[in-house]
Amino acid sequence: MKNAHLAAYPALRLRRLRQADWVRRLVRESVLTPADLIWSMVVHEGEGEIPVGSMPGVSRLSVKGCAQAAVEARKLGIPAIAVFPHIDGAKKDATGTLAHDPNGLVATAVKAMKDAAPEVGIMCDVALDPFTDHGHDGLIENGRILNDPTIETLVRQGIMQAQAGADILAPSDMMDGRCGALRTALESAGLQDVMIMSYAAKYASAFYGPYREAIGSGKLGTGSVDNPGDKKTYQMDFANSDEALREVALDIAEGADMVMVKPGMPYLDIVQRVVETFAMPTFAFQVSGEYAMIKAATQNGWLDEERAILESLGAFKRAGAAGVISYFAPVAARLMGA
Ligand code: PBG
Repeated sequence: MKNAHLAAYPALRLRRLRQADWVRRLVRESVLTPADLIWSMVVHEGEGEIPVGSMPGVSRLSVKGCAQAAVEARKLGIPAIAVFPHIDGAKKDATGTLAHDPNGLVATAVKAMKDAAPEVGIMCDVALDPFTDHGHDGLIENGRILNDPTIETLVRQGIMQAQAGADILAPSDMMDGRCGALRTALESAGLQDVMIMSYAAKYASAFYGPYREAIGSGKLGTGSVDNPGDKKTYQMDFANSDEALREVALDIAEGADMVMVKPGMPYLDIVQRVVETFAMPTFAFQVSGEYAMIKAATQNGWLDEERAILESLGAFKRAGAAGVISYFAPVAARLMGA
């Protein structure tokens, strides 16, 4: 241990450095700023805002609302926005055809946000689940999620997003080989400056529940027989940690510029291991269920909202994360004085 030379009590009194705000600030080891945040945002095709019931304080925004939010992000010093589409159920199909529609909701929203605030980075999820009627991230055959055919669709989707102006592609599908396929396609399309932030260690998690309501995703395990009830054949088993390092290593080798661990707070051990092992820009996603938990408790008066938000986000910085994707981003930035 680095502090093996420490004196013993009473010469050593650790409370001395905690006695006043000024000295606590002086010796603080990690600091959260608005520049650590990526604002997670949901866009819908209609006008106005539609509140998401399970995520109080979060609404689906119109394209115009997203553009205004991008201006707001710039003002608050939030560097980037991750945009997720809510697609009308009637427009979905088994193969997620609209995922690569160059005139679709994602392309329109990206263009509107880049026009309104070009200085704000825009990140797009590369995955089929908002567009498939079954809610899975890939194509299905005989109840199995197909890896390589899914990648072909993801590449079309990613190139479409990049051509619309997305700065960062964030593959969240967990197919093997998707980062390499995206990187190769970006190169050959002359889009070599587009970044990839891979959802490298993404776990099959109960904490994505409210997101499914937010994006109006199909209910897993219902409808056709070709609809497995969970994502465990592609997202990771929450019991595993070494496997996360293998996932991250693979995505880095394939050309990911940044990596992500998801969900966030229950997986801080993974964040720390990834940072220590790879020394890559590593992000954590404070997912919809984490947002909902904090909101539910604060709305009941069981937790102090301001403190719970800043502590939960600050924990990611302490674990070594470069930043956090969060639905709290604008609220948190304002709490930090932005
Ligand atoms: C889809 C995707 C999910 C989330 C981000 N992208 C859900 C899932 O994988 O099932 C979750 C986001 C959240 O819960 O806030 N590939």
